[in-house]
Amino acid sequence: MYVEMRHVNKTFDGFHASRDVSFAIKKGHMAALLGPSGSGKTTILRMIAGLDQPDSGDILIDEVRVNDLRASKRGIGFVFQNYALFRYMTVADNIAFGLEVQKKSKAEIKARVEELLELISMKELGKRYPHQLSGGQRQRVAFARALAPRPQILLLDEPFAAIDAKVRQELRTWLKEMIGRVGITSIFVTHDQEEAMEIADRIILINQGKVEQIGTPAEICSCPETEFAADFIDARRFEALMSMK
Ligand SMILES: Nc1ncnc2c1ncn2[C@@H]1O[C@H](COP(=O)(O)OP(=O)(O)OP(=O)(O)O)[C@@H](O)[C@H]1O
Ligand SMILES: [Mg+2]
Repeated sequence: MYVEMRHVNKTFDGFHASRDVSFAIKKGHMAALLGPSGSGKTTILRMIAGLDQPDSGDILIDEVRVNDLRASKRGIGFVFQNYALFRYMTVADNIAFGLEVQKKSKAEIKARVEELLELISMKELGKRYPHQLSGGQRQRVAFARALAPRPQILLLDEPFAAIDAKVRQELRTWLKEMIGRVGITSIFVTHDQEEAMEIADRIILINQGKVEQIGTPAEICSCPETEFAADFIDARRFEALMSMK
């Protein structure tokens, strides 16, 4: 297993944000953390990234316990819910940021930025600033920036939450294709079941800091194991979605 949480607990001032969370994701897979607002999805991502420490339990990456490894050493790319691009940097400089931090050579940075601009189909837009882009374009840049230092794992925290429904649909399809092409192990946070079902190989359903169920979209829909799962997942919407494919 490539990313693993074992019996992880996390409290904030006595509030239990993660309760005995365990799951494992295979290399190259795309998992969705699905659950309502406040259920603890972002908390889980932040602990995997090393931005927060669990109170107890283990986090493993490629079979190695990383609880004590600094965030910058974990080989993780993070795309946040809100546009976290640097406003006063061009698109190209935003993408180059992680490589500058790693003190890569100028030539190497230039080549990698060009490769990523090409990947996100924004070759002509490298000199623009974030305010000169659409919401969808900004999230594509955020994706390229996260990928630039060649992370082992990509974490995406509701990357399309601030984007309107039509563009969001296009971006989902785009993202699934991109991640397939890059072949990177990814965890995608969402509270939208359709988004989770369309994008992920596996869904980890979270409620009140606990894992309710883990399975493929079809398994979660056809055999909800808990009352919460049965309530939260609307099987009719899933069938409608599958029939459209
Ligand atoms: N730094 C913090 N201090 C105190 N409480 C926190 C902190 N971070 C998160 N929490 C609490 O932990 C719970 C889980 O928060 P979290 O952000 O992980 O939820 P979420 O599932 O990502 O929600 P959303 O879908 O709204 O983003 C919430 O009740 C939240 O208020
Ligand atoms: Mg969140």
